[in-house]
Amino acid sequence: MMTFQEKYKIVSNKQVSEKFYQLSFDALAMARKALPGQFVHLRISDTLKPFFRRPFSIHRAQKTIDILYEAVGDGTRMLAQKKRGDRLDCLGPLGTPFSLPPKDIKQIVLIAGGVGVAPFLFLTDILKKKNYKCVLFYGARSKEQIFPMTDFKKNGCAVHVATDDGSVGKKGRVSVLFSSIKINVPTYLYTCGPKPMMACVQEFANKNHLEGQASLEEVMACGVGACLGCSIKTKKGYQTVCHDGPVFDLKEVIF
Ligand SMILES: Cc1cc2nc3c(=O)[nH]c(=O)nc-3n(C[C@H](O)[C@H](O)[C@H](O)COP(=O)(O)OP(=O)(O)OC[C@H]3O[C@@H](n4cnc5c(N)ncnc54)[C@H](O)[C@@H]3O)c2cc1C
Ligand code: FES
Repeated sequence: MMTFQEKYKIVSNKQVSEKFYQLSFDALAMARKALPGQFVHLRISDTLKPFFRRPFSIHRAQKTIDILYEAVGDGTRMLAQKKRGDRLDCLGPLGTPFSLPPKDIKQIVLIAGGVGVAPFLFLTDILKKKNYKCVLFYGARSKEQIFPMTDFKKNGCAVHVATDDGSVGKKGRVSVLFSSIKINVPTYLYTCGPKPMMACVQEFANKNHLEGQASLEEVMACGVGACLGCSIKTKKGYQTVCHDGPVFDLKEVIF
């Protein structure tokens, strides 16, 4: 797998909801090699603060590489200040991507919490080309976390939203939505979001004998499998999120 490291020019960096930003940078060669589920590791400043790169899922890879991010700390707040024309040191694409569902599958269910929805737009770009029908269940704390789902709908996804406070969609956790899925055709799951949510998805999958994949997040340092700082427990032993993941077989992860 080819990995690039360059200072790429930012094409746009805009706020897309109260909490989320979308940044695109001009990286055509990387966009051609990237696969859904992979991530980029960004050096946000030329100073020592923040010291480590920060990982972000590839939201879309067309002519540019796009990321969708939430400003939660120093690094992401600095990222939100970047302007068109600024340069961003990026290492990527990194990590193990999503794989396509088995051939007999007729229904794809995507379950995302918060900014965990980020890798799914790129995934639906590919699934659409393969003529899969997708349903997206998206959960967030409140309407500030929700951003326009237009591109998912353009990719043919049926979108269902739940918010903890009921300000958009159904009130409650996203599990109130996905637990009502009709499994009358062969169904496959993809999930990304907070660990307790993905643990619920795993329980639901086990109960209904469904297979799927989960994209995990851990705080990272090197991003290339060298420091073991992002290790998680799986049924195969400890594995690194940056190199063995971030995408794992849903049933292998020990949440
Ligand atoms: C493979 C991967 C893909 C990711 N994709 C996205 C994405 O598409 N969009 C996005 O907004 N974020 C994504 N993240 C999380 C993102 O990397 C962190 O939000 C970012 O590193 C925070 O940096 P900061 O300097 O702003 O915050 P910091 O000041 O470093 O931390 C702020 C708070 O966030 C917590 N935090 C930091 N990193 C993580 C993490 N990886 N997981 C959980 N909590 C964390 C810290 O413990 C702290 O409480 C991803 C993480 C991984 C590992
Ligand atoms: S961040 Fe170093 S091994 Fe994953």
